[in-house]
Amino acid sequence: MTQDELKKAVGWAALKYVRPGTIVGVGTGSTAAHFIDALSSVRHQIDGAVSSSEASAAKLQSLGITLFDLNEVDSLDIYVDGADEINGSMQMIKGGGAALTREKIIAAVARKFICIADASKLVDVLGTFPLPVEVIPMARAWVARELVRLGGAPVYRQGVVTDNGNIILDVHNLAIMDAVALEEQINNIPGVVTVGLFARRGADVVLIGSEQGVKIIG
Ligand code: 5RP
Repeated sequence: MTQDELKKAVGWAALKYVRPGTIVGVGTGSTAAHFIDALSSVRHQIDGAVSSSEASAAKLQSLGITLFDLNEVDSLDIYVDGADEINGSMQMIKGGGAALTREKIIAAVARKFICIADASKLVDVLGTFPLPVEVIPMARAWVARELVRLGGAPVYRQGVVTDNGNIILDVHNLAIMDAVALEEQINNIPGVVTVGLFARRGADVVLIGSEQGVKIIG
């Protein structure tokens, strides 16, 4: 199977967590895009969706799924999204698609975070995938210096402006042994909007797509 076929398998497998009459939190990326396709097959049974990016919002709308602003919603049953890396403690690196801030907000609201990923995303130690950090543009150089002080090698993601009007620094050379502590440390740097470590609030259920089928963890 190709990597995209594995992503499709987990995207469709996540459908079983969608309850009728609810609003669904929807992530961003190629795996989440398969979930949106799956969600459109039950669009008449759900109230609608809250999106973590303009890109996913456009796809949801094009498939006839009603979009809600998060401010209109009191609670969310589930949030379904992919990951760039996930470890055995269900902690993740996210933000390869630059949508990390809205992803983290919706994940915080949702009762259950369902992570959908192909098996290549499973790691023992987070950090081989460069850690995305969304930063206020005027703080770029300062935040980069602080990230170097923490042992990382930040690289400015050229040409990318987030949906919130900010920039992304991708931090290389990190072997993340204490993800909760690093998430807090980076979040505390003035100018950082969000770090793409999802450790304090990790996933609750992980669907891993492999040649052997979809494995459910949690
Ligand atoms: C976007 C994300 C994505 O979930 C992550 O990049 C995985 O993407 P894909 O499903 O395309 O492999 O965090 O900001």
